[in-house]
Amino acid sequence: MILFKRSNELRNYLDSKRKQGQKLGFVPTMGALHGGHISLIAGSKKDGNLCISSIFINPTQFNDPADFKKYPVTLEKDIVILEASGCDVLFLPSVEEIYPGGTNTAIHYDLGSLETILEGHYRPGHFQGVCMVVHRLLDIVRPDNLYIGQKDYQQCMVIKKLVGLIGMTEMIDVNISPTLREPDGLAMSSRN
Ligand code: PAF
Repeated sequence: MILFKRSNELRNYLDSKRKQGQKLGFVPTMGALHGGHISLIAGSKKDGNLCISSIFINPTQFNDPADFKKYPVTLEKDIVILEASGCDVLFLPSVEEIYPGGTNTAIHYDLGSLETILEGHYRPGHFQGVCMVVHRLLDIVRPDNLYIGQKDYQQCMVIKKLVGLIGMTEMIDVNISPTLREPDGLAMSSRN
């Protein structure tokens, strides 16, 4: 597995792979990886992609700073898991790399009622933050296939909408993979 911290270096590498005819499959994460993430990597590999994953704990999607502070960080373990699962490329950017102009941008994604219902009601601004980071990551990686988990169903709908809003519908297939569960039925999650 090759690790990149700089977006321009990752872009150049992926451009060369694209020119060689490789399809790119992308699994964005915030780390603290579990079986659900591994199944997304496995799906990407099964579809014949060069598999790229990212680990970035995105500050703009935490409406509660205390929640951001306590989000689990297990980087060394995550790298071992990604390597074992056959991930080809890991993108590990800094906050400056993702938000070169700072995190307070005027950009607003018109998500309609999708961002105010259900989880959006309890976490104002959360889905705008998800859109900010996913938009930036998609611009850098420009994947053919994006893999996300059905566990976060509302997030899946938001990301599908985002892909349309940023004009990438023709380019990217959004693949939604089934929720993986612990033996007691609890959905696997980084926060468990
Ligand atoms: O589901 C997550 O882990 C995050 O919300 C995502 C999609 C990686 C964006 O930060």
